[in-house]
Amino acid sequence: MHITILIDNRHTSGLESEHGLCLLVETKTHKILVDTGLSEKAFINAEKLGININDVDILILSHGHIDHTGGLKRFLEINQKAKIIASLYLPNTNYWSNRGGKFHSLSPDAELIRNNINRFILIKDNYFINNEIGVILPKNTNNPKPYGNRYLFVSEGDAMIPYTANDELALSVVEDGRLTIISPCSHQGLLNIADNCCNAMNCSYIAAFVGGLHLLDGESDDVVNIASQINHLYPQMHLYTSHCTGRDACTILQAGLNDRFHVFTTGEGINIGSFIH
Ligand SMILES: [Fe+2]
Ligand SMILES: [Fe+2]
Repeated sequence: MHITILIDNRHTSGLESEHGLCLLVETKTHKILVDTGLSEKAFINAEKLGININDVDILILSHGHIDHTGGLKRFLEINQKAKIIASLYLPNTNYWSNRGGKFHSLSPDAELIRNNINRFILIKDNYFINNEIGVILPKNTNNPKPYGNRYLFVSEGDAMIPYTANDELALSVVEDGRLTIISPCSHQGLLNIADNCCNAMNCSYIAAFVGGLHLLDGESDDVVNIASQINHLYPQMHLYTSHCTGRDACTILQAGLNDRFHVFTTGEGINIGSFIH
């Protein structure tokens, strides 16, 4: 399996970057795009990298936030065939952040989604593309979720309700008996997502976890515990992160996981399997 980071916060010379994430996951059977970034920039990068977005057969929207859904318009202009898998809650949810003390919208383009609703597969339970590929909604969340979620809300009428990430889904792929999890923002928390994906895919060997962790600098997340739980539960797991994982969290995870910790940048390719011995 091969993963290409089409856009991320971290800049690579010659390519566009932005606060957003878009990854192309190429499995033995499918070309799956996970999220679309904040704007059309991921698709400018795809062209520069020689990647044909027309070949994508499935788009997964990991959750509704605009830094993951903002490129949807451009995707729909380029690709006429891919089905789009997203949470049933996504099209009708208004997303907000009050980080910085003022509410600002993080909502996707609802009209665009409505106009293309025939392309969508909207799910409220785990969805299996085949025996090896699942789209998993983490529902058992006994471990702490990121503190940064407390700046996030959804609105119902005039009421602002804390964001529970009930629209969040993770792509799980099992190849050669080993699980890879792609979870772009991980609002449910890495440990919760990993646990739910292992159970749903009936595989406890995680080869790689790829995505942002929403562990932002200056928050009180117990990142030391996250690293030690990873080492305890998933001793073979490589962690590839960037996007919403802060520098402080990266330093702690690096110290805990050593050579199984990696920070990715825009344009990078990750070969899952090449590091498995
Ligand atoms: Fe998010
Ligand atoms: Fe994000």
